Amino acid sequence: MVRLAISKGRILEEAVQMLSSINIHCKVNPLNSRKLIIPTDYEDLEIIVIKATDVPLYIDSGKIDLGIVGMDTLMEDERNNHFILHDMSISKCKLVVAGDSKSKYFNNMKVATKYPNLTKKYFEKIGIQCSILKLYGSIELAPVLGLSDFIVDILETGKTLKENGLKVHDTVADISSLLIANKISYKLKRNKIDLILDKIKKNKKNEK
Ligand code: PRP
Repeated sequence: MVRLAISKGRILEEAVQMLSSINIHCKVNPLNSRKLIIPTDYEDLEIIVIKATDVPLYIDSGKIDLGIVGMDTLMEDERNNHFILHDMSISKCKLVVAGDSKSKYFNNMKVATKYPNLTKKYFEKIGIQCSILKLYGSIELAPVLGLSDFIVDILETGKTLKENGLKVHDTVADISSLLIANKISYKLKRNKIDLILDKIKKNKKNEK
């Protein structure tokens, strides 16, 4: 059995479409089911639907062999017991610093984010001291209500920033989703995993 974790939310939708396009179909539609382990019609491949931030831990533990996860989640987590097999080029977005259009960076400013590690590294790199407030969602609210001076968050369409009167100040990273494999799983199940990987890579070539 090969187990593939897919992050819930936007990545799940695009990943299920991508799997269908390479003729791997889920036996239950994960988009409208509460089932967490989804059998597929492809040999012995199972899809596991989990919260994005939990993917690195499951892959690290070897309980799940493969994962489709955003670079943002992977870089934030800093666990390293996996190989990056492929850039899936799905769920593309940017990690940005945003705030009021008139705000300027200053030392000891407050930055709200779901990504404290990436945020710390970024502001260290550009030489700004800041205190980081870890939030779990609706990050844009923090500068609007004065909880923070800036945010570091995902920008996809830009709609959330626009509707809350915020502007992008800097891009921290371009993000896409990666296919990763637990290091031991990749050694033990390499033939099976490579077959799936080949199908994904061929599909990308056909699209061009
Ligand atoms: C993400 C992100 C932004 C928004 C950006 O939030 O944290 O808030 O999407 O997308 P946009 O540029 O297309 O507007 P998500 O929808 O995952 O919800 P959350 O705020 O609960 O984390």
